[in-house]
Amino acid sequence: ETIDWEPEDAGKSGYDHYMLKEIHDQPRAIRRCLRGRLRELDGAVEIDELGGLDRPKRVHFVACGTSYHASLYGARRFRERGIPSTAFLASEYDVGKIPIEEGTVVIGVTQSGETADTLTALREANSAGATTVTVSNVVGSSASREADHVLYIRAGPEISVAATKTFASQQVALTLLASAITGACDRDTLEALRSLPDHVQSVLDQSRAREIAAEYADAEMDAYFFIGRGYAAPVALEGALKLKEISYAHAEGFPAGELKHGPLALVTERTPVFAVVTGDSRAETMRGNINEVASRGAPVVAVTDSPEPLAADVDHVVPIPETDPRLAPILANVQLQLVAYWIARELGRSIDKPRNLAKSVTVQ
Ligand code: AGP
Repeated sequence: ETIDWEPEDAGKSGYDHYMLKEIHDQPRAIRRCLRGRLRELDGAVEIDELGGLDRPKRVHFVACGTSYHASLYGARRFRERGIPSTAFLASEYDVGKIPIEEGTVVIGVTQSGETADTLTALREANSAGATTVTVSNVVGSSASREADHVLYIRAGPEISVAATKTFASQQVALTLLASAITGACDRDTLEALRSLPDHVQSVLDQSRAREIAAEYADAEMDAYFFIGRGYAAPVALEGALKLKEISYAHAEGFPAGELKHGPLALVTERTPVFAVVTGDSRAETMRGNINEVASRGAPVVAVTDSPEPLAADVDHVVPIPETDPRLAPILANVQLQLVAYWIARELGRSIDKPRNLAKSVTVQ
């Protein structure tokens, strides 16, 4: 794999912040991730770098932060294809206690390829005899040299401390990886993957995120909650991470099923709830959760591919195009990235370099 960034990857291209530019880079980043990897005729996924990687018996993902959220998504993709898979926070991956049996593949997901905890987990997995794969954005990074195989996500340089385009590219890359080692994509997935860059573009072109942000960027708010189910659950976690990282507001994301097990006690009219409702069988259950928070007075914003049935139950509907329900959360996430950006901007935060944080965390 060679570096093939284009000149506009280097600067802000007229945007006020790298973060906003990188959010808008996503259609291009996803196209690059897909390029040359989807076989037109039969939907097979071919990833040159992965020659010799057999179907694993089980998969452990190790990652931190946003890359961990992408790993939760990836693990679900692998499980759907019959491979038992778990995502671990790299800092909690205790090789001594988590047995690595024969046939285990350990996948380190790291944008920078320099995150200390992820590198340590990969090293320990290597010593324990696992086959290792790194999914990274940086060619030649430490993690890419550590693993037996490397899959590059090809998102282009990401300067803003907050990861945005690399999250989308990681999810696409893990979708491809799951297919590459278990058999061809079905026709619907193939079509949806090919249309994904255009769908992201239409979200970017029509987003009402700025308006929503103006309404809720309010120092009077106690907290912001993000909920989702299934493939949308990692996006709920990611939506909260993005908002807290750049706006310094308290934000918490969790799978919607957890609401009643604690967080509901915090819900008031001063805790806006962002609900990611994507078109799978869980939409009805999500509706129940939305009613639970709305009846406690919480303002609710639904990010959804089926606006009609929800419109009456929520304060705002933020629509996304209809697509494969497993890819829809990637579109919903773009809306949440924009909401986080505009809230942080309303509050006058240092968006590209939030206080106390570094782009790559090279200490444990
Ligand atoms: C994301 O917005 C954060 N800055 C952070 O959580 C980041 O994803 C994490 O530090 C992992 O970095 P990596 O992907 O380079 O390993």
